[in-house]
Formats: sequence, structure tokens, C-alpha cells
Amino acid sequence: MNKPGFETLFEPVKIGDVEISNRIAMAPMNLLYSTPDGYVSEQNIAWYARRAKGGFGLIITEAIVMTALAAPFIVYRNLYLHNDTFTAGLNRMVEAVHNFGAKIFAQLSIGLGRQGRALDGTPPYAPSPIPYEVNADMLPNTFKLMLGNPDLQRYMKGQAPREMTVEEILSEEERYAEACVRAVTAGFDGVEIHAPHGYLLHQFLSPRSNKRTDEYGGSLVNRMRFLVELTERTLEAVRGAVPVGVRMSAAEHLSQGLTLDEVKVVAKKLEDMGVAYFNISDGSYEALKYFFPEDIEHVKNHLLKEAAELKEVLDIPIITPSIHDPVIAEKAISEGATDIISLGRQSIADPDWPNKVKNGEVNSIRRCNRCLQCLMRIMAGLYPRCAINPEVGFEQYNAELFPNKRKGEVMPTPFVKWALAQMMQSSK
Ligand SMILES: Cc1cc2nc3c(=O)[nH]c(=O)nc-3n(C[C@H](O)[C@H](O)[C@H](O)COP(=O)(O)O)c2cc1C
Repeated sequence: MNKPGFETLFEPVKIGDVEISNRIAMAPMNLLYSTPDGYVSEQNIAWYARRAKGGFGLIITEAIVMTALAAPFIVYRNLYLHNDTFTAGLNRMVEAVHNFGAKIFAQLSIGLGRQGRALDGTPPYAPSPIPYEVNADMLPNTFKLMLGNPDLQRYMKGQAPREMTVEEILSEEERYAEACVRAVTAGFDGVEIHAPHGYLLHQFLSPRSNKRTDEYGGSLVNRMRFLVELTERTLEAVRGAVPVGVRMSAAEHLSQGLTLDEVKVVAKKLEDMGVAYFNISDGSYEALKYFFPEDIEHVKNHLLKEAAELKEVLDIPIITPSIHDPVIAEKAISEGATDIISLGRQSIADPDWPNKVKNGEVNSIRRCNRCLQCLMRIMAGLYPRCAINPEVGFEQYNAELFPNKRKGEVMPTPFVKWALAQMMQSSK
């Protein structure tokens, strides 16, 4: 059935005990579809179901904000999971994705730190009281053309943050772990700790934004302490019911920024602790041209060198974004440079990318031209539209995307499964 030339892309792969049917993941993306108060909307559900229908083996959700402290500091709209009222909607999203045979992992954020902004002007919190500031050289070229635009200007400089206290760090770790249990209850097949792109955990990792003199700043061991403790808490909380992964930017590309060599040390430590996969990305708000690579050469092989270097130190599977070309994706996986590729903007432009590749219809793929209109609209708080995919934003009106009956047996939640497995173990 698979068209010759793309066999490896359609080989199953295991993350922990979870089998993914192919090597194609949808990259985490917040498209602002949640309700203003952080609940799952019909559009959220249809959006992910549409990509599962298009053949993605793994869907990774947008970053879901996990704590009440972090919740006010979001960019326009965000999914939340800081109390039990959010769980049932997320469970509907999981069911809709499972209905098309894909697996779905939840990306879980402990907050935006200095990249956050509260509507009422309350200062955000960060490792140190240093605001972020974007140098225009670090913007994608499309954005450089509209420097005078007020939406972009607002984004160019963050508000001065206050320093987070040690008590807050410890209590946020606890709140986060509690929320991870909700993600498991919602039925996600895996969870991903969100530590890239200059958000709070990345700020702690980076000597650029972390100038603390306590045990959370200074040496790499200290700067990674928050992420390490959080990972420990998360692993304890989910009790092996689902695999736990981590996403990090491969490098910061800025003076005093976190380097790939340091990222390798952190990734190895996390693997030794029991993390089941590593999802790489790049850059931050201050280095946006790396976060959203723009030119065609970048979208062909952006991060493959970094992925290959990480693979030299890690045994766990690696997910690499921005390889929009199926020929390069196949080559990268078959040569062992990465285990899974993920598509972000390309999955917006064409949700059927995987099925088209599988069915030998590569020429009919609607190729993302990286015009960044999706992102520009988001920057203004609007729902994204795509210049080449008119369906974007209207998926919720497609009834086919919503399960209209239960499929198979009523499945026990992962924790029930976990408890049953423990009972079997102890009765042996
Ligand atoms: C609109 C939009 C929202 C995004 N939101 C997230 C997010 O919530 N979490 C995350 O880790 N990355 C996020 N990303 C980054 C993508 O996961 C991906 O790394 C980036 O778009 C580069 O991949 P691409 O070239 O395939 O688009 C977002 C990207 C876009 C375009």
C-alpha cells in the first residue's frame, strides 16, 4: 500500500509503551481556538480530529497552561488545566482524535514567565527581573517588513518581570504535577513538558535570563534544577501510566544564551530520569527567525544536524520539526538523524500531508509558503486563516469530525489500567 520511497515514514514507532502508527507528528500549536476562559471549544476538537483524519500518527496539543498562578499571563487565549472543570472537554478532544486512529499527547506548560502579559498590567514573574527585548535582526523577514505595526511593536519588548520566590517554584511544581494527573485522566496517550521558546522553564535554563544567586541559578546544574524537579514530580504523578516527554529549543542563538552542548547535558539527565522522548525546537521570542524558520533551505533541513547530535547522546526517540518535504523526511528517518518528524505550519496548510504521501499523491500536497499570515493574525488576537487552505478555522462546521457514537468497549481510564496492572503484578 505504501508508495515505494516512503516506507520508513510509515513504519510504526514506540514511545514508551505507546505505539504510533507512523513517524509523522503534528507539532504543538496554539491557534487561539480555546474559549476565552480556557476551555476546549468545538473548533479545538475539530481542528485536531481533522489532522488525525489526514493521517498524522501522533498529534501533540498546543501548550496547555497548568497552574492558576500562570493562567492570567497568556497571549490572548490558551487551554487551561489548573482545576478539574477543564478535564472533561479535553477528554472529548482525545476521543475525537482516537476516532481516527491517531495518538494524542498533551503539551503541558508551567507558564510563560517574562514572555507573558496580564490584561490588568500585573507584572509577570521570571527567574530574574530582566524583561525580554527583540532585536529586529532576529525577526523573520516577513515581520521586518511591518516593524511599525502596533501588534508587532507590542510584542517587541516584554514587561519587566518580578523574581519568582523559591516558595513559588516549589508550589508551582506541586500544582503542575497535580494537573498532570488531570491530563492522564482526560485520556491523553502521553504528556510533554514544555520547556522551549524562551518560556518560563527555558528562562531558568538560560544564563541570559537567569541571574539568580540561589540554588536555581548559576551553574547548569542549578539552572536545570527547576526542570529536573518538575520532571521528577511529573514522573511520580503519572506513575508510568503514560510516557513523559520534554520539548526544548536546541539553542537560543543569542549572547549568553543556552547552547546545544548544554541542551545535550540536560537531555541526557532527563533521559536517565525516565523521560521517554525528546522533542526539539529552536529559538524563542527574542530569536523568532529560528522559532519559525522561513526560507526554503531552512524548512528542508532545519535542526537535522542538531537532532543527529542529540541522537548521539540519547537512546530515546527524537522528534524534529520543520521538515516540510517528504523526501527529506524519509531520508532523515532512514539515515537515523531523527525518529519522528513533526509538521507545524505545513499541517495548517495541508492536513492531508501524511495520507497524500502514503497514497503517492505527493504532487498534490499544498505546500506551506511560510507567508506567516497564520502567525500575524494570532499576534493580533484573531483566529488564524491560511492563505492557501480556506478550510482553516472552519473545521468545527464539519460534522464528520465529531464521533457520533462510542467506538468499541468503554475503555478504562489510564489510571484504572495502571491499577489493574499493579494488581496483576502483585497477584503473581
Ligand atoms: C501558530 C503557532 C503556534 C505555536 N504554538 C506552539 C505551542 O503551543 N507549543 C510549542 O511547543 N510550539 C508551538 N509552535 C511552534 C511549532 O510547534 C513549530 O516548532 C514551529 O512552527 C516550526 O515548525 P514548522 O516549520 O513545521 O512550522 C507554534 C507554531 C505556530 C505557527
